[in-house]
Amino acid sequence: MNYENIRIEQDEGIATITFNRPKALNALNRALLGELSLALGRLAEDEEVRVVVLTGAGEKAFVAGADIGELATFGPLAAKVFSRMGHEVIGKLQELSVPVIAAVNGYALGGGTEIALACDFIYAADSARFGLPEITLGLIPGFGGTQRLPRLIGPAAAKELIFSGRMISAEEALRLGIVNRVVPASSLLEEVRKTALEIASKGRVALRAAKEAVNHGLGVDLATGCRLEVDAFALVFASPDAREGTAAFLEKRKPVFRGRLKEAPGS
Ligand code: CAA
Repeated sequence: MNYENIRIEQDEGIATITFNRPKALNALNRALLGELSLALGRLAEDEEVRVVVLTGAGEKAFVAGADIGELATFGPLAAKVFSRMGHEVIGKLQELSVPVIAAVNGYALGGGTEIALACDFIYAADSARFGLPEITLGLIPGFGGTQRLPRLIGPAAAKELIFSGRMISAEEALRLGIVNRVVPASSLLEEVRKTALEIASKGRVALRAAKEAVNHGLGVDLATGCRLEVDAFALVFASPDAREGTAAFLEKRKPVFRGRLKEAPGS
């Protein structure tokens, strides 16, 4: 499939999705969201993919938000359909069984910050800027910003950003706990790749179980979350990877994880 608004490269188990509308700072229009949805569906079925990386084309932006030209034409019904579409795609991203890393290489505003927040974690270039500027347009965030940001950094810090529409630097995003690491722009993709390769060498069944335990556990009380972990811990023993990883340790060699998600319990 030839995509027009995104690019996909696959190499050594890492699939990189690049938002590719650099002239519009990679703004999210409906066509791009449709392609992203399709691409995520395909990557979810691809056993070769172990880690997904998201980044933006050009040096200026990751994603500068929803396409304001499209938003300007909306009435309430079109806005609802668009917001639902964004939530569906971003939900797919969050639920992807493999780890997803956002490599934020410039402006990540509105929908750009919202996409990054649905990734498992974010590395940012020192030139990156984050923010939810929708209020400046007379709008509010529509792709999860009012929900994921307060859960991550607490309601007071999130409200300040949402009410002011202020942009923050990568360093401030690091301090708030939005990003895991800030690196020089020129080495962002290299740093992300190093971490992606490290993760890709692990067993995909255990990775999926760990991701699900964290994600689902966050939505429930601690006791329920701990019960979820007990079940997930037990289930990973059904994969050959558990035998391989423990045997490799005892035999003082590197493990070779071959467990497949399709054979995994609950797949
Ligand atoms: N939608 C459509 N086009 C956009 C865009 C967006 N979100 N952001 C930038 N562009 C376009 C500009 O219109 C401009 O196009 P032309 O060259 O054809 O004029 C091009 O990208 C370059 O942008 P600028 O000239 O504005 O570049 P700059 O360096 O002066 O400013 C910026 C960069 C601060 C990111 C500025 O472009 C900006 O403020 N963009 C809008 C950011 C924003 O408000 N995002 C939130 C959108 S609403 C949303 O996301 C809702 C939701 O929750 C889903």
